[in-house]
Amino acid sequence: MKFHVLTLFPEMIELGINTSITGRAIEKGLISLNAMNIRDFSQDKHKRVDDYPYGGGAGMVLQAEPVYKAYSYLVNKIKTSKANPDSFKKPRVIYVTPQGKVFNQSMAKELSSEEDLIFLCGHYEGIDERVIEMIVTDNISIGDYVLTGGELPAMVMIDAISRLIPGVLNNDVSSEFETFKDNLLEYPQYTRPEVFMGRKVPEVLLSGHHAKIDSYRREQSIMRTYERRPDLLENAVLTEKEREYLTGLIFQKNYDVYS
Ligand code: ADE
Repeated sequence: MKFHVLTLFPEMIELGINTSITGRAIEKGLISLNAMNIRDFSQDKHKRVDDYPYGGGAGMVLQAEPVYKAYSYLVNKIKTSKANPDSFKKPRVIYVTPQGKVFNQSMAKELSSEEDLIFLCGHYEGIDERVIEMIVTDNISIGDYVLTGGELPAMVMIDAISRLIPGVLNNDVSSEFETFKDNLLEYPQYTRPEVFMGRKVPEVLLSGHHAKIDSYRREQSIMRTYERRPDLLENAVLTEKEREYLTGLIFQKNYDVYS
């Protein structure tokens, strides 16, 4: 996967993504990062890229031209890097904006199958709408709050997508068996010592009985999801037996409330 980021702060993206697991994935050649500075495409002698909004209002707006020029340069560069440029399909362009669809694990999964992804990061009061209409394929938010710019959201998405790429995590199965697998939260984890300040590790985890451990963990996942994120249960993938367990939990809770 090749990540390309159009931004006014490429060093911020590089610093974050070149660190830790994503940094190692870059070293191993599993992903690559190309953060491009939109300012380099300004025609202005002072390298300005923003201007006042038409119609008035607070703040400044990122101009269409430098964004379009940076995008065209990038797409051309990606195209010429392909073994077969004639069958080249333009990559998706993700505009990171609080007005977008809220990012989640299934979006990360879907995006992880792309060859190239372009992230467009805004700053100031936004980007001239015309260039957004011309180049953007997906508007994505990382949550219902407003940040000062799109760099952190782009980094969040790059991180979430990268860890789904085979080989990025040391343990290939671990990206599957964890929070949001089957739309459930992950079960609690324990490590040594067996007793910590009087609190014991659940007995079943010491039993060595794998089937029992698996079923205990699934029940813990279902219980956690019911207690912390019941909204996820609507799309949870459960067996008949697990549905019965969930019904039992709901019944128990209602019983506790009314007794
Ligand atoms: N830019 C500013 N706030 C944002 C958010 N919550 N998600 C994506 N991009 C943003």
